[in-house]
Amino acid sequence: MNQNRQYRFDTRVIHAAQAPSDWQGATLAPIYQTASHLHQTAENLSQTFAGKTSDHIYMRLTNPTNRTLEEKLADLEGGRAAVVTGSGMAAINNACMALLRAGDEAVSGNSLFMSTYLLFSNVFKKYGITVHQVESTDIEAIEKAINEKTRMLYLETIGNPKMDIPDLTRAAEVAHRYGIPLVVDNTLASPYLCRPIELGADIVVHSTTKYLGGHGGAMGGVVIDGGKFSWPEERFPDFKPFIDRKGPLAYLDKVWREHHINFGTTQAPLHSFLTMIGLDTLALRMERHMKNTLAVARYLQQRSEVKWVNYPGLPDHPSNGIAERLFEGKGFGGMLTFGLKDQDACFRFIDSLRLIYHLANLGDCKTLAIHPYSSQYVSFDDETRRRLSITPDMIRLSVGIEAVEDICEDLGQALDRLGG
Ligand SMILES: Cc1ncc(COP(=O)(O)O)c(C=O)c1O
Repeated sequence: MNQNRQYRFDTRVIHAAQAPSDWQGATLAPIYQTASHLHQTAENLSQTFAGKTSDHIYMRLTNPTNRTLEEKLADLEGGRAAVVTGSGMAAINNACMALLRAGDEAVSGNSLFMSTYLLFSNVFKKYGITVHQVESTDIEAIEKAINEKTRMLYLETIGNPKMDIPDLTRAAEVAHRYGIPLVVDNTLASPYLCRPIELGADIVVHSTTKYLGGHGGAMGGVVIDGGKFSWPEERFPDFKPFIDRKGPLAYLDKVWREHHINFGTTQAPLHSFLTMIGLDTLALRMERHMKNTLAVARYLQQRSEVKWVNYPGLPDHPSNGIAERLFEGKGFGGMLTFGLKDQDACFRFIDSLRLIYHLANLGDCKTLAIHPYSSQYVSFDDETRRRLSITPDMIRLSVGIEAVEDICEDLGQALDRLGG
């Protein structure tokens, strides 16, 4: 790869951070399966502990395979640097905990992945951190919820599973007006569809388990630092030592040094390796996921058993216009939800699927269906499920890259069994 050339996304997704000359000519990053790394001199180990070399010490701190994935993902998101973690939730927890202290507040959208919702509403509370959740697409409500204690605005590019899309450009403007960073979970969009840092966000997190890996075989997460936020001292006095040490990467240094290392949120290098194999086909897969999802949405709309279809690609969806603008016409994501008569109809529908897998995941090559109300959200009270738009009649579908005719035929035969 010519370092002086700016390659297009579909090329970078394959070639970014590739270093065959450092890998004895191998074209895939080697899996460095070692807990520790040998140092030839005491001086070198001392310098490395002091952060003055980029050598490796111990897998919990850094690992060469993980570092290649970090460089790739930072490049793809237009960020400065990244830290990969053992799961998406580890990344989200580290990303937020590096920003928040006891007594601090944060503002988030109310359209959040289930575990993120629980982290914000239950777990953080135990540590004296309050997260105000407001309608994700209501920029005025977001602004109103910000006060002098707020240290973070957190949104999902496409809410899971509400499928609503906040205006990230405006959200970033509001956050910056108050001197706070915008953190975005970009899992459902992937950097193929949206690069929040280019729209003004400061920090991006992902569950790499989903579209980035793409095959349901590797677990992981990542925190990516845009490296542009200035960390105003009146709101972030504790950032000073990190700013002095790492300049524009003060935040990522805090994530890594305070949280990743001490919480032990290490990524296994095998999972980074598998994620990188998946990444090679991200652009192709996303194109097909999104083409298929639009076709499935239109198919479902024609079926009398289907009461409603929720997909931002449909012209009457409330987020359709904003998605067109933010995603520049590339598509609307690979997931949708739809409604049947009631929970019983949803159960009968799922039990009749022959091709489509019934499981708790998304972003896989295979089409996946789930009834969130009775599975991930089974222990939530009804009021909370209503607020999160988790209704008993809802099926969530992560549309895969199979032949769309086969996906629709499987959906069709399962709907046929519901009768009328
Ligand atoms: C939007 C989103 N963020 C984060 C996560 C958590 O990722 P992981 O399961 O890798 O911890 C998920 C998992 O489904 C998700 O959908």
